Amino acid sequence: QTIYLKNYHEPEYLIETVDLNFILEAEYARVVSRLTITHNPDNKARNAALVLLGEELTLISIALNGVTLTTSQYKLNDESLTIADVPQNTTFTLAIENTINPKANSALEGLFVSNDMLCTQCEAQGFRKITYFLDRPDVMARFTTTLIADKTLYPVLLSNGNKVAQGELIDNRHWVTWEDPFKKPCYLFALVAGQLECIEDHFTTMSGRDITLKIFVEAHDIDKCAHAMQSLKNSMRWDEVTYGREYDLDLYMIVAVGHFNMGAMENKGLNVFNTKFVLARPDTATDMDYEHIEGVIGHEYFHNWTGNRITCRDWFQLSLKEGFTVFRDQEFTADQTSKAVKRIDDVNALRTRQFAEDAGPLAHPIRPEAYIEINNFYTLTVYEKGAEVVRMIRTLLGTENFHKGADLYFQRHDGQAVTCEHFVQAMEDASNKDLSQFRRWYSQAGTPVVKVEQTYDAAKQSLTLTLSQSIPGQKNAAVLHIPVKVALFSEDGTIMDASVVDTVAINNELTLELREQTQDFIFENVPGTPILSILRGFSAPVKLQMSQPLTELAFLLRHDNDSFNRWEAGQKLTASIIFELIDTIKQGKSLSIPEILIDSFKAILEQTSPDLSYLACLLSLPAENYLAEQMPVVDVEAIHHARQFVKRSLAAHLTEQISALYLQNHQQETGELNSAAIGKRRIKNLCLDYLSQLNTDDSHQLAHNQFANAKTMTDQIAALGSIVNSENPEKQACLQQFYQQWQDEALVIDKWFSIQASSTQPDTFTVVQSLLRHSAFDLKNPNRVRSLVGAFSQANPVHYHAKNGQGYQFLADQVIALNSLNPQVASRMVSALTQWRRFDKQRQDLMKQQLERIINTDNISKDVFEIASKSLA
Ligand code: ARG
Ligand code: ZN
Repeated sequence: QTIYLKNYHEPEYLIETVDLNFILEAEYARVVSRLTITHNPDNKARNAALVLLGEELTLISIALNGVTLTTSQYKLNDESLTIADVPQNTTFTLAIENTINPKANSALEGLFVSNDMLCTQCEAQGFRKITYFLDRPDVMARFTTTLIADKTLYPVLLSNGNKVAQGELIDNRHWVTWEDPFKKPCYLFALVAGQLECIEDHFTTMSGRDITLKIFVEAHDIDKCAHAMQSLKNSMRWDEVTYGREYDLDLYMIVAVGHFNMGAMENKGLNVFNTKFVLARPDTATDMDYEHIEGVIGHEYFHNWTGNRITCRDWFQLSLKEGFTVFRDQEFTADQTSKAVKRIDDVNALRTRQFAEDAGPLAHPIRPEAYIEINNFYTLTVYEKGAEVVRMIRTLLGTENFHKGADLYFQRHDGQAVTCEHFVQAMEDASNKDLSQFRRWYSQAGTPVVKVEQTYDAAKQSLTLTLSQSIPGQKNAAVLHIPVKVALFSEDGTIMDASVVDTVAINNELTLELREQTQDFIFENVPGTPILSILRGFSAPVKLQMSQPLTELAFLLRHDNDSFNRWEAGQKLTASIIFELIDTIKQGKSLSIPEILIDSFKAILEQTSPDLSYLACLLSLPAENYLAEQMPVVDVEAIHHARQFVKRSLAAHLTEQISALYLQNHQQETGELNSAAIGKRRIKNLCLDYLSQLNTDDSHQLAHNQFANAKTMTDQIAALGSIVNSENPEKQACLQQFYQQWQDEALVIDKWFSIQASSTQPDTFTVVQSLLRHSAFDLKNPNRVRSLVGAFSQANPVHYHAKNGQGYQFLADQVIALNSLNPQVASRMVSALTQWRRFDKQRQDLMKQQLERIINTDNISKDVFEIASKSLA
């Protein structure tokens, strides 16, 4: 059953207050819910039946205004509870009692168990698995929650808001009451009960209020919370300084759980997090893990304003909160780390994964118009492209006007459930910038291709830049409003002071606004043929089509003062060389590496820079998935071989420089966590990766030494990765030792699984099959599934796409097994089959066979069905 945006209608009833009682027994939970309900004054429909949503619930009783209803007075089915006759024109109360079975809940939606603790996940529609309710985000209510449980099994009892009362009962039981003073949709409800320890800290807000901060974890993880706490304080300060947003409750709690379908959840005052985004100690978590923890803590914290205080009217508006919040967390991380590197990392993720989604059978606009299962729409498009759309608004308005727009949005809509349109309207009203054409980004799917042509007129000293836009496969695609940042360089490496009518230049950088299908921009004052730096900072989520000679790319790689485009020039240079090699492979000729690439890399290796992480980006080759994205028919093997050839050749030609850089940055490794130390590790481990391609005794020893003496997980896992991906004789011993050392740290064991699953060595598939039978593998733990099944199918193209189809069959087997356990995770795993059109006929057939096998599974979930069937259609 498909749900459509165009069918949205306001709720007939509103819920003003919710009083929840949870009696948490060891084997089940009893829920008593008291609702005060009124007609919605904005929806004139009267005498409508009251339809509450509920799934997988056992109803015990219902009372209306204190009178118990008989079974003839309501209708019950698998999805809802309907009461035809409710009081009109007056508030009434409904008391509902039901039970649920959290122990049997392997879908991890609603109330579920993770390592003996009870916790909830309600977004998007999990609350209906707790009790009957108007489970839709435009119904916002005040919640009071009482938890009653055994003191020994569940000493800690948490819910949203402030703790207002607690007490003891007979039989070793206790109770706690929580009150959330803010109206909220039920998807922001949370409860947690368990044997948890916590660390506590305080934050003083800009207006001087004292906020208590608590992070709850299982006892053995209590020494891994400090970074998360610091991240939370950084987030709170950043949102005050950058957006003027202050926290609103007296208490902020985070709970880390080991079984979680996604990263984290912004429940009001009580965030629930995947342990992966909380726990960190230098010896267990990598520098990247540290960065991601800070980013996700920020993300969930920022939701308090962009998501909670102002929420979504309906789920089609998901990007309203997610796109904006991702944009906010990206800027936060950029401020805390390296702006250049953060932008590169984000664009890399967008171009390798979101672009594929946007070009495939599941492409949808950032505001989708229809869905079968909303959980399938927590996508890279809604999140990451959504963030790019917000970023473009900032580019078009300028930072100052953008913040005026944000202020107006917060002021206008606080306490409301609104749409993407309200957001754009506020931006428009505050800036007087016309965004009418820009709005099309919300309804147009697909990645635009922007074609660039240039003609230089020496006599007039002018350059004409002709930009045209189109979306492949869509003849009637909307013409979008696209900001394209450009600068022109002279041959001596200086930036030209050229101008375009009606366009403001800031430090000789111009933002062109492409609004037509084809549009000319005329630059005046161009003294000589310029070298063009275009789409600077990746100013729009588009694909550029432009021929630029390798020499110009090499030039920009040396001289561009836009850190993103400087990196991009290197990526283009390397990619075009790899594509040439791919052609050579197809012709069966022998390969050789062009001088220009070696020289460019050599120049970078010899550079000194305060931002070593950035230097590491400059030295990184484009990912196989990104290269695949640019081929009409993906040739997995050729891509892999050509890229490996480049990597090995660079390592061979530049061994001396790479070894020197390695040593220089490895020698005084102290395990510190500041950005200088992180940069040293990033570049050093990249060097190790290059060197290990040589498969010499020296390179094997280097990796093994680093593995054996590592002070940080960053160094240990990087060394293990180099070992596993080479012919290092110590491989088995290292893997075993690593397992022994870390068997009690679930998150580290996840790394152990994924490093083996993504290995390019020939025996990988056999290894993956045996890991599936390993005692530490658990299909019920999403992190573990992602680390084995996810890593193999999404991060190991050569092996996953094996010609005989064994990878596809393996994946389909796992999807089918997961379908009945955890539909959300199962449907995420299907994505590795959905891109079948991109491959050769033989692979297409094999992938389609597996998709069909999946669709024919008994009791196929909505989640899996939607993805599998749409990708075949
Ligand atoms: N709102 C959460 C976040 O992005 C994610 C919730 C995902 N829910 C889901 N059903 N997939 O912070
Ligand atoms: Zn979010």
